[in-house]
Amino acid sequence: MRPDFIPAHIADQDIRPLLIAGAHGTLGRAFGRICHTRGLVIAAMGRHELDVTSPVMVEQALDSLRPWAVVNAAGYVRVDEAESNAGDCFRENATGPSVLATACAARHLPFLTFSSDLVFDGQQAEPYTESSKPTPLNVYGRSKLAAEQRVLAVHPQALVVRTSAFFSGWDEYNFVHFALQAARAQRAFAAADDVRISPTYVPDLVNASLDLLLDEAHGLWHVTNQGACTWAELARLAARHAGLSPDFVAPRPMADFGWPAARPAQSVLVSEKGMVLPSLEDALGRCVGEMERHFAHPA
Ligand SMILES: NC(=O)c1ccc[n+]([C@@H]2O[C@H](COP(=O)([O-])OP(=O)(O)OC[C@H]3O[C@@H](n4cnc5c(N)ncnc54)[C@H](OP(=O)(O)O)[C@@H]3O)[C@@H](O)[C@H]2O)c1
Repeated sequence: MRPDFIPAHIADQDIRPLLIAGAHGTLGRAFGRICHTRGLVIAAMGRHELDVTSPVMVEQALDSLRPWAVVNAAGYVRVDEAESNAGDCFRENATGPSVLATACAARHLPFLTFSSDLVFDGQQAEPYTESSKPTPLNVYGRSKLAAEQRVLAVHPQALVVRTSAFFSGWDEYNFVHFALQAARAQRAFAAADDVRISPTYVPDLVNASLDLLLDEAHGLWHVTNQGACTWAELARLAARHAGLSPDFVAPRPMADFGWPAARPAQSVLVSEKGMVLPSLEDALGRCVGEMERHFAHPA
């Protein structure tokens, strides 16, 4: 199998690609864009070409494509639905990464996968570091913790990046986009003001994760933009960066939302390993600019 998403001139030279699994999601597509910008050849595979929970498909993909490393951008991210769908959530979030990690370990291939701030329960006052003890409150968090443990058990050289609350100017499936839509329409926008998070700009996450992979880093790393805020503050900040009034935000306690999955009151991540990304303010400024360009002239 030599998929046609590897350009013919590259295929002829037999350059080994970076394999991106889950390539059609928010993170997977961002890897595609940024690898293109950085001149990294990729094999981008969605669920139908590569189901990460299938050992047979994974073995076939690795044997035929001979990647130099594998990035797992696949996952089950519907935190509330996971409460009533633990089987699918664990299959995609824990079985998938461990299948990939096992196959990569057997071939001595670097492997990168993504975990979440929701492995923490929010009980500690300080931000969480890589060595903080995880105690998840919900099914999604338990599936991500299971993945971390299984991946590092079968492939100790794997890279597991814990991150949080994505925002991006490249698609519409994120909180900042929804907030700005409401701000532009001058529509009231309810957002939790008692949940503190580390919002993460997807392009910064992808660049930093690629740098770690290229540097042969391994183990658990926290990668988020610098700065923490509540969801309500994030909506206000985004509006200010877009030159809009922040008055549309209706701050609410999280209890008002009736979310099926319990959330930590704070899940702010910092890195004790020295990973530093640009500030949240800087990232929001770039994101809002990117949104204006992207939605005015979609790629
Ligand atoms: N979004 C966040 O705020 C956030 C925060 C922290 C960590 N993360 C982690 O980052 C990763 C990516 O998140 P995302 O926001 O990019 O999610 P996303 O947009 O929902 O993309 C996930 C992709 O994974 C694919 N997928 C699911 N099961 C698969 C399987 N068995 N085999 C192959 N592909 C499969 C999905 O395909 P279908 O469309 O066919 O289902 C989808 O394209 C996840 O591990 C997530 O836990 C996300």
